Amino acid sequence: MATAPEKPKAPAPPAKGGAAPPAAPKTGGFAAVKGKIQNFFLGSREVIGVDIGSHSIKVAYFKTEGGVTSLKTWGVLPLDLNPEASPEQKKQQAVNLLRAFLIQKGVQVKEAATSISGNSVIVRYVKFPKLNKDELWATLATEAEPFIPFDIKDVQLGFHILGDLMEEGQKKMETVLVAAKKDAVQARVEVLEAAGLKPTIIDVDSFSLENVYERLKGPRDDGAATLYLNIGHTVTNLSIIESGVTRVVRDVFISGISFTKAIMKALQLDIAKAEEAKKKHGLIIDAEEKEKALQEGNREALGVSQAVAGVVRDLVAEVHRSVDFYLSQGPERSIGRIQLAGGSAKMRNLAKHLTAELKVPVDVMNPFAFLKTPVDVPPEVQPALGVVVGVALRQNKDWV
Ligand SMILES: Nc1ncnc2c1ncn2[C@@H]1O[C@H](COP(=O)(O)OP(=O)(O)OP(=O)(O)O)[C@@H](O)[C@H]1O
Ligand SMILES: [Mg+2]
Repeated sequence: MATAPEKPKAPAPPAKGGAAPPAAPKTGGFAAVKGKIQNFFLGSREVIGVDIGSHSIKVAYFKTEGGVTSLKTWGVLPLDLNPEASPEQKKQQAVNLLRAFLIQKGVQVKEAATSISGNSVIVRYVKFPKLNKDELWATLATEAEPFIPFDIKDVQLGFHILGDLMEEGQKKMETVLVAAKKDAVQARVEVLEAAGLKPTIIDVDSFSLENVYERLKGPRDDGAATLYLNIGHTVTNLSIIESGVTRVVRDVFISGISFTKAIMKALQLDIAKAEEAKKKHGLIIDAEEKEKALQEGNREALGVSQAVAGVVRDLVAEVHRSVDFYLSQGPERSIGRIQLAGGSAKMRNLAKHLTAELKVPVDVMNPFAFLKTPVDVPPEVQPALGVVVGVALRQNKDWV
């Protein structure tokens, strides 16, 4: 969520002024907002979305003119995957790539939205005694401390109130609590600033997909929940969204690099060759195709498929765990569909294989499907842009 608070009462985010404001409806991230007073006066504001992943930086910028939203700029900027590079070198590379891209595309907008996930963010569903938002801000650090596995001084906190409930005769409220490590937030902020941008919104990857869901949902949204799997390079963000509210959020460390490593090991390939083989072959799922590969002695295709299948099995087990947890939380719950996002969503036959394994329709997300204007983003890169589309769409609506 990325709403400017009515009264900034939150603990200051790392180094950069601004407050971590309360959440907007239906989301549960947090935001570092600077210059929010101007936002009220200047009315609708635009932001450029920047998703700094471990494999590539994704950029998206939408503009709404005459009520019509269109994609003005987008980019996927691949990072050099040299495992020897120091954090400082990686950071400098990200800055250089981003700065060059913004210049090349003539991007004028300065305010940027981004998001984080992985080890440095914790999302918890917590029931607090009933308080109003101001009261909760005042006591947040104390109330949140038992739920956060990090030192409370090292994190930036945010929350979103989902609703009230009665428990043991006490009025309580169900809250999504988000704690992000300040150094991780600061690292993002520094890259964006060094590239000439002003970071204004920091979201959580899974919640930014919720923002995409809001735009994409159609008549088929029949009450059954949607499970999102954003399969990136180092992390897979798993979330379950029910009637527009994220009910389960987890980050699982089975992702693109896991597939690559399994291939490296099985076929004794270096990382670059294994990446290439992964993208070329993916999974073999039908008997005929397997027979053909056997007859042709295509050891690489068979080996890749076998290696990838082992990793997919682990991922499926994690999905089952989350689904079982979700189903156990209330009656009449069901998962109606799964949407794949992230670069790995495009792995050959992955969606088909998951449909068979999980017995629900699995589709690869096109985060631009809500637009009425055409986009020039090739289908093979669309799912990787899921998160950045979500953060780019935070723009004005969440601020005023
Ligand atoms: N056609 C393909 N088949 C299989 N894997 C693919 C394909 N295209 C891209 N990938 C994989 O997708 C991954 C990159 O995805 P993505 O861009 O979502 O990651 P990221 O956002 O940079 O990483 P993270 O968020 O995990 O830090 C890489 O592991 C890459 O090999
Ligand atoms: Mg990512």
